[in-house]
Amino acid sequence: MEAVKTREIDVTNHYIEKMAAKIAKRPVPPKAMVITHGCQMNGRDSEKLRGMLDAMGYEVAEGEIERPDLVIFNTCCVRENAENKLYGNLGRYKEKKRGNSGMKLVLCGCMMQQDIVVDKIMQSYNYVDVIFGTHNIYRFPELLHSNYVTESNIIDIWKDAAEIVEDLPSIRQFPFKASVNIMYGCDNFCTFCIVPYVRGRERSRPPEDILDEIRGQVADGVTEIMLLGQNVDSYGKGHDVNFAQLLHKVAEIEGVSRIRFTSSHPKDICDEVIFAMRDLDKVCKHLHLPFQAGSTRVLRDMNRGYTKEGFLELIGRIKTAMPKIAITTDIMVGFPGETEDDFEDTLDVVRRARFAGAFTFLYSRRQGTAAATMPGQVPADVMKAWFNRLLHEVNTITHEIALEKEGMILQVVPENIGKSGILNGRADDNSLVHFAGNADLLGIPVDVKITRARTFYLNGEIVDGHAML
Ligand code: SAM
Ligand code: SF4
Ligand code: F3S
Repeated sequence: MEAVKTREIDVTNHYIEKMAAKIAKRPVPPKAMVITHGCQMNGRDSEKLRGMLDAMGYEVAEGEIERPDLVIFNTCCVRENAENKLYGNLGRYKEKKRGNSGMKLVLCGCMMQQDIVVDKIMQSYNYVDVIFGTHNIYRFPELLHSNYVTESNIIDIWKDAAEIVEDLPSIRQFPFKASVNIMYGCDNFCTFCIVPYVRGRERSRPPEDILDEIRGQVADGVTEIMLLGQNVDSYGKGHDVNFAQLLHKVAEIEGVSRIRFTSSHPKDICDEVIFAMRDLDKVCKHLHLPFQAGSTRVLRDMNRGYTKEGFLELIGRIKTAMPKIAITTDIMVGFPGETEDDFEDTLDVVRRARFAGAFTFLYSRRQGTAAATMPGQVPADVMKAWFNRLLHEVNTITHEIALEKEGMILQVVPENIGKSGILNGRADDNSLVHFAGNADLLGIPVDVKITRARTFYLNGEIVDGHAML
């Protein structure tokens, strides 16, 4: 699919200007905030929403503020608790709206792609002003403008994506690091997962558009790039560049010093990608490789496309190529039909693969997915007991791996500074490191000696004379 650089973005810009003209008449700029649920796809979309709000003349808050004039909830529906988070917030914001009648409430993101959700919001939360989905965020200024003009609720949900619209304005969270979508949607249809239904079919961006975006970000001070896709290893369909080749091309850009990506898929990662990671110094030695479950039968029912043995063999190949690599993963317990023996397979994989970290989830039944109607839904108490055992195993190994880092010197890019002057940032292998320093070091690689390993982060101290520009 070719990116459209003129028509749609021109419409967006037209409505940004119209809104900016309205807002300029106000004595003070209205305040807006964007609350993001879910994964890094939503995180990146929220940067674009912030960019559009800023271009319209809103003062965009970094976090939550007490009296906003506009609030956007960018929603997630991957698990039921993500959805409940929104409903809880909507109740709170009803009160806030009562105290500020001009306040606009906007909902967007994955949850809005489900008819049942939009119907519920219209019935029970009809004070929401604007609703749109994942395929038309570039229409946000137009939809907001319509809401101001008509003074009625505006709902615009598209079933699938039309074009990839390039060049939307955007505000990054960090000046020195940027996320870049390399593809949208997902075609894998893992039987538990709602994402293919709410994010649409897999579409890879043309490599030149990706590289142009990164060059622009580098000119703006970015040194670290995170390439985003639900399955980056299948990048490139319809183009003549595959994911491994894209990594090489990004690494050729002068000014980029670190390249990360997420997520990889065990069925699609190939030696060419593994060797590109190994050979390119700029590619961080961290791989997020969700495996979900250890039992080959469960993996088949999940439609994951690999077996327990195949996954362990893959881990072996990756570690042979890059002995120091940190591999993290996603694991789920309680998939329909899962038995105690199946769960033992998951623990077995955890013990043998020795992940540096893992996101662990209770299976959540998602309406419309194949697994939702499968027999053998696992009782909540069984799921919870497995979850606790899994967490214990995962955390023990994570801590053991962290302990191996005590005494090492890691290069860390500080990202945040706390009130007490403690910096935190990420090492090449994605370890989170806390150390004393000052705000001048934010975004600058420094050498840090690890003094103490906690389970989820490391304490360290800057090595004298090792701050590097
Ligand atoms: N595309 C990535 C992949 O396949 O590895 C995963 C993206 S998904 C947004 C993030 C994680 O959410 C998945 O790896 C899975 O562990 C979890 N997840 C997805 N659907 C779920 C469900 N119905 N219940 C519980 N966890 C779920
Ligand atoms: Fe969901 Fe599977 Fe696609 Fe990941 S690969 S987003 S788990 S369907
Ligand atoms: Fe991400 Fe949640 Fe959507 S995990 S793709 S924001 S359903």
